[in-house]
Parts: sequence; C-alpha cells; structure tokens
Amino acid sequence: MSRTGAIALAPRVQRIKPSPSMVARDRARQLQAEGRDVVDLTAGEPDLDTPKHIRAAAAAALEAGATRYTPVNGTPALRKAIIEKLARENGVRYAMNEISVGGGAKQVIYNAFAATLGAGDEVIIPAPYWVSYPDMVEACDGTPVIVSCGENAGFKLSAEALEQAITPRTRWLILNSPCNPTGAFYSAAEIGALTEVLVRHPHVAVMTDDIYEHIRFDGGATPCIVAVEPRLQERTLLVNGVSKTYAMTGFRLGYGAGPAELISAMNTIQSQSTSCTSAISQAAATAALEGDQGFVTEAREMYRLRRDRAVAMLNDIPGLSCLPPDGAFYVFPSCAGLIGKTTPAGKILKTDLDVVMHFLDAAGVAVIDGTAYGMPSYLRMSIATSLPKIEEACTRLARTCAALR
Ligand SMILES: Cc1ncc(COP(=O)(O)O)c(C=O)c1O
Repeated sequence: MSRTGAIALAPRVQRIKPSPSMVARDRARQLQAEGRDVVDLTAGEPDLDTPKHIRAAAAAALEAGATRYTPVNGTPALRKAIIEKLARENGVRYAMNEISVGGGAKQVIYNAFAATLGAGDEVIIPAPYWVSYPDMVEACDGTPVIVSCGENAGFKLSAEALEQAITPRTRWLILNSPCNPTGAFYSAAEIGALTEVLVRHPHVAVMTDDIYEHIRFDGGATPCIVAVEPRLQERTLLVNGVSKTYAMTGFRLGYGAGPAELISAMNTIQSQSTSCTSAISQAAATAALEGDQGFVTEAREMYRLRRDRAVAMLNDIPGLSCLPPDGAFYVFPSCAGLIGKTTPAGKILKTDLDVVMHFLDAAGVAVIDGTAYGMPSYLRMSIATSLPKIEEACTRLARTCAALR
C-alpha cells in the first residue's frame, strides 16, 4: 500500500507503468499544442478512415436500437461471424461457447491473464515485445520471463530458447506474429519447431496475438498455431480484433478463441468489470468480418510503399540501420551507431532514450525507444502515417544525425 496521497494505492499499481507509447504520443502532442512543429511517428493505429460499409453498419445499428447491454461474451451474430472467419481464414474450428468478445484485444489478453495467473506464475514473453504484455502479467500477479530474441535471430523465438525458458511455473507462452514492434512473422516451419517443444510440456498454454495477421507485405496468410498443431487447440487462446485490420481502434473490439473452460472464466472476469463491449461496435465488427475485404489489401499495399521508402531513407542515415519488416506498420531500426555520439550542445547520447529525446528536441520527430519494447539501442517508428510525413521525418533525422560528432 502506498500513502503518497489521501487515497492509498494498491501494490499492483506500483508494479506497472503507463503504456510508454501513450506517454511518448502524449508528449509529442503536448509539444504540438505548444506550437512546435513535430512529426509524430509514435502512433500505434492506422491513419486511414474506417471503411464506409462498416461505419454504415454502426450507424444502422444505432438507429435500429442497438443501445443496450449485449451478452457478456458478445452477440450471437458477432460470435458466428468470428467462428466463420476463423474457419475461412485460419482453417480452425470453434464453437459458440469457445469465443469471448471484449473491449479490444487488449482487454481479452488482460481477461485471460486475470483468469489464470497467480503469484509466481510465469509467462514467457519473447523480446522485442508489445509494451503491454509484461505490465499486464505483473498487474495480474504473474512474473514475466523475458527471452531476448535479437536481430541475429530475426527477432524471433527459437525452439532452443523456448525450451530453456520453460520451468514448472510456466503458465503461458505469448507469441505475436507479425510482431509489434519488429514486423517479424513466424512461418509454419518456425511455428512447427516451437510446437514440438510445447507438445512435450503439457502444462504450458499458448496465447497468440494475431492482431496484425493481415498486414503481411508479401500478401501471404499468417499461419495459425492451432492449424499447424491441432493437439495444442485445447491449451491455446487465439487473440485477435478489428482495430488494425479495419482501422477500427476507437470501436474497442477484440476477441479470443479458446477452450470453453478458459473462455467461461474470462467471461466471468469481464462480467464483473466492463460487462460487454459496445453493442454498436459489435454490429460494426460483424459487418467488418462478413463484408467486402478490399480495404485490407489496399491498406497493406499502402503500408508496403511506406515501409520501402522509410527503410531506404533510414539506411542512408549514418548511425541507423533498419531491416525491412515483414509485416505490421512499424519500422524498428538499430540506433547503436548513434550511441556515444555528442550533440551540438555537447550532450553525449548514452542510450536509445537519449536518442529519442534528442530527435524530439533537435529534429521535432517523435519516436519510441526500443528499451520500452525490451530491446535497447533500437527505435520504433510508426509508418501508419502519410508518405510525405515519413519522408519529412527521415530528412530531418538525416540532418540531425549529420550534426552529431
Ligand atoms: C501487438 C498488439 N496487440 C494488441 C493490441 C491492442 O489492440 P486492441 O485495439 O484490439 O486492443 C495492440 C495495439 O497497439 C498491439 O500492437
């Protein structure tokens, strides 16, 4: 218990921190509000409008009176659309009581950890990771076990590294493919190597965060772990949502597919926190999953052009080096070549966070430090912004880096 103010705070609040990407974005917005010209590359959401037919479905639902609570686990229409999507796109079969709908993939992941973790329970998280995983685990009394997967490993977890990380206390492995922040995705063969290990450790459950599954620059389908190894279905939670694929972040809608007992426990947690996500969002998500998928291909092509330009421009800047990401909408360049350099004001850049602050102050470009993602000496830059803005940011960074000594 902390007594810094009139109201004491719980220990779990002291274990966790606000999402760093939100902090960086807020800081960039604050500078913009003060009149500074900042190119903001911190966003974790599409800059595109939600497709028209989805907005129309939301409006129609509102007019038709979808203004009340829905079942905790989601409307039957949406769960049916999810089941059909999983069969059609991922080749896996689920029943109505094996689907849980929540307020974003984020809430679904949180519900799963809250429903399963106790003190000392371990969750294996390959780094670089999405910033929220370790904090969510800690908020639910668990222990994050971070396995560093560097650039040489393609930023991916190997079977050997997984084997070494498993202990009798391991409850979950979480996999995110394509990955935020690196864009790396696991091929069917790479997933197969991991499932060989997992089959030998029946006490380990698997959570796959598939939120970027459709943003793959080669246009290929992202393999689903349950399709690769059906024996894992009874201990896998597939997490997905509509935020990134259909530019629907503000709708707050995600879903999980997993064994009925787990799903039921997650629903119980949700029933005592938010009850259900918005009825209007559920109608919109049903339209997104069932409707025309043309937007998905168009958006992917747009991100691919931006990725190609960003990677080319960043690799021309001495001190930065950037692997082309396979998917998602971020680039993750190494800034190791800038560490140890001195700014024109005489400050030595000792860490990636120093680089981030210098980029913000000297170039007016907002990015996020790799340390926030468990991988120091890297930077995460969002390409979910227009090509001119990406080019402007890279031009400014080139100038700023050239002035370092
Ligand atoms: C890897 C990953 N998982 C989950 C989420 C959360 O998605 P949602 O909007 O569905 O909560 C994000 C959002 O940034 C993400 O990057």
